[in-house]
Amino acid sequence: ASDLYLDYHGFMLPRASHSEESLKYLENFQVKDDDVFGITYPKSGTTWMQEILPPLLNGGDLTAVETVPNWDRVPWLEEIRSGLVLDKLPSPRAIVSHIQYHLMPSSFFKSKAKVIYVTRNPKDALVSSFHFHKMASFLEDPGTLEEFTDKFLSGKVLFGKWTDHVKSWRNPELGDRIMFITYEEMLQDLHDALRRMLRFLGRELSAEALDRVVNQCTFKNMKSNKMSNYSMVPQDYMDNKKSAFLRKGVAGDWKNHFSPELDAKFTAVIQEEMKGTNIRFPWD
Ligand code: PPS
Repeated sequence: ASDLYLDYHGFMLPRASHSEESLKYLENFQVKDDDVFGITYPKSGTTWMQEILPPLLNGGDLTAVETVPNWDRVPWLEEIRSGLVLDKLPSPRAIVSHIQYHLMPSSFFKSKAKVIYVTRNPKDALVSSFHFHKMASFLEDPGTLEEFTDKFLSGKVLFGKWTDHVKSWRNPELGDRIMFITYEEMLQDLHDALRRMLRFLGRELSAEALDRVVNQCTFKNMKSNKMSNYSMVPQDYMDNKKSAFLRKGVAGDWKNHFSPELDAKFTAVIQEEMKGTNIRFPWD
């Protein structure tokens, strides 16, 4: 690809936030039974989970989301900061990751750690990623949307193919350690989504506390939360004026970007690759 990316088991990862050392750290990472992972294909709700998980795991306490940047509050397992932050994070730890199932550290497979897997309509993840590539100087220029779609469909994008990612995490070995939810369900009814997550995590919040967490995690409030909106990142690194990291926060923006031809092509490829699985999504 380019010197902006490093190759990890055939996956393209940005060098700005990943290194040989951070990937070694990932491989040797000791997962604890009470760790909770928020797993996402890029641009599918990671930052949202970084806002949601700390208060769910801490009785509704909003201190972390108000005072700690998202990347230190709920670090990425594979990124450079993980080694600096994760060992010091008090349990229960919330951790995010974009990696596919088989690349999880070996300690994960022996643990009881739980996983919330968030899927987003790949057309919207693609559009979000397209804009992200324009505002982030550490990513290659995406070219036209048509060109970027070809890369997306062939997996020549960060963390590989969407279909491979989604399928890899449907591993029956995980049993009831994993909960699946979609970005679209979270958007439609965040109260309900958080109640489902609480049940899955075996935790409770008062109605009042839940209301507070939901309010904290709306797009509007996250967009104005300095600890979550990437405004602390230098502008020559991420240009939030070009396109905000928290850009639109809606479902279906692909309709404003895709031509009928692009839509037909995209749908055909994804359908073909999902054939034979019984995975169904609200947007199918
Ligand atoms: S990354 O780079 O992979 O960590 O990006 P990620 O956070 O997964 O995805 C970014 C998109 O998620 C949207 N987002 C939200 N949408 C609705 N509500 C809330 N609270 C929210 N928080 C983040 C964000 O706006 C990006 O989507 P787009 O479509 O670009 O707006």
